[in-house]
Amino acid sequence: MLLAGGVARLLDAALGRIERRRFPDGETYLRFAQDVSGRDVVLLAQLGRPDDKLFPLALAAATARELGARRVGLIAPYLPYMRQDTRFHPGEAVSAGHALRLIAGGVDWLVTVDPHLHRIGDLSDICQIPATVAHAAPALAEWVAGHVRNPLLIGPDGESAQWVKTVAHDARAPFCVLSKRRLGDRAVELTLPDLAPHAGRTPVLVDDIISSGATMLAAAAKLRAAGFAAPVVIAVHALFARGAYDALGAVAAQVASTNSLPHRSNAIDLAGVMAAAARRHLDSR
Ligand code: R5P
Repeated sequence: MLLAGGVARLLDAALGRIERRRFPDGETYLRFAQDVSGRDVVLLAQLGRPDDKLFPLALAAATARELGARRVGLIAPYLPYMRQDTRFHPGEAVSAGHALRLIAGGVDWLVTVDPHLHRIGDLSDICQIPATVAHAAPALAEWVAGHVRNPLLIGPDGESAQWVKTVAHDARAPFCVLSKRRLGDRAVELTLPDLAPHAGRTPVLVDDIISSGATMLAAAAKLRAAGFAAPVVIAVHALFARGAYDALGAVAAQVASTNSLPHRSNAIDLAGVMAAAARRHLDSR
């Protein structure tokens, strides 16, 4: 379920290639393997574990421009660093805006999927270029409707309410939202509402991101304690820190993610969503 190939096919675009390697000292060598002059170049960057990818991305965008590309667009389905959108403690980096400037600074337009916008209301508040936020909810809902019997959609925290509500509506299923208190990078405390009216349904946990897995693991444990079956776990962005996927696999009936980031849990294809959003920018002049 490789995203770049699917998007290129749907856009009827050539799938380009960038040769990339490291010099012996670790610096990046990069070369466009085909002529980009006069063409619209669309970079597709899957920015999980982004620190090693951000400089090569900036270098690719600058090089495409230097080689005469007409415009350079960026499809970055997962926008990293968005969760740190305020200074929780004195002296901390507020990474959301800084990271976005690095990511989008060298391109003409941006397409992304469900960025973690919580205290920042709208991506345009921190993004200086035309940007489209595409949504995974319709694809998630279609997957749920086709794979889960008698589902109860559950958002593990208040921030997930926005996605869960739409997925539940489109999948014609009830939903509820838990409340979460984060105690640390890998520890959360969850509170369940009264789920008695939904007894017997298949719990489907839906969140934008799975990172350490702590949120989903805690939710699965609470649901089991409340008498529910093992949950189906769905994420838009499958970040999965080391060990998280295996730990979740041990308690979930199934773990499914979109291919916004490549991961073995990918089951929900976003190529159509990405291509449609990119098409609007490509056609915009
Ligand atoms: C944060 O609020 C996000 O929506 C996710 O709930 C969070 O990133 C999940 O992180 P973890 O898997 O580490 O609990």
